Amino acid sequence: MDAHETRFSRSPSATTERLVLRSPQETERLGQALGQVLEDGLVIGLLGPLGAGKTTLVRGLARGMGLSDRVTSPTFTLVNEYGGREPEQPRLIHVDVYRLDPHGAEAETIGLADLLDQVEAPGATRPIALVVEWAERVADWLPEDRLEIRLDYSQALQGPSQVQAREAELRASGPHSQAVLCRARPRLEQLR
Ligand SMILES: Nc1ncnc2c1ncn2[C@@H]1O[C@H](COP(=O)(O)OP(=O)(O)O)[C@@H](O)[C@H]1O
Ligand SMILES: [Mg+2]
Repeated sequence: MDAHETRFSRSPSATTERLVLRSPQETERLGQALGQVLEDGLVIGLLGPLGAGKTTLVRGLARGMGLSDRVTSPTFTLVNEYGGREPEQPRLIHVDVYRLDPHGAEAETIGLADLLDQVEAPGATRPIALVVEWAERVADWLPEDRLEIRLDYSQALQGPSQVQAREAELRASGPHSQAVLCRARPRLEQLR
């Protein structure tokens, strides 16, 4: 098995899923599918190069969580929060650490540990997602059990109007994120 096959395994399992996303709308629908099945706290790490569709996916996630806020790139503010205005309202915390130093030493300055505590607090009665763009830079800070989504430019397929398609690989690294992925599967099937 060569390196490419290892990165984008063709055999889906309980913990991984691979999709081709042929348009920005499909990237949004992936986020939406996940947002629709969130029940409590989940940490999502987004990986992949600039322009791969990370913020687009977060836009769908917000919609799936029933939040009508306009999601923008938090490149300058580093942290954007959506929802959570009332105790029952779903809450989406969107972090982009692109501008932090590449080894995450500044993670403290954006209060990442405190945000993680809020998301991982047991007994949450509403969906709370903490989604991190460029998650590899703060990987040491993130919980073991998280959903990692790697987005990349597709080698194989062109989408409509010459827009290059994307590939997504989802990996759930613990029981909680695996449960979310399982619940999302029927919706992900509709993206095939
Ligand atoms: N599956 C896709 N196919 C083609 N273009 C896409 C796809 N997903 C997102 N895009 C486009 O890629 C561009 C960059 O998306 P963005 O979400 O800002 O990337 P990132 O946050 O990873 O830098 C946007 O113009 C977006 O519409
Ligand atoms: Mg972005």
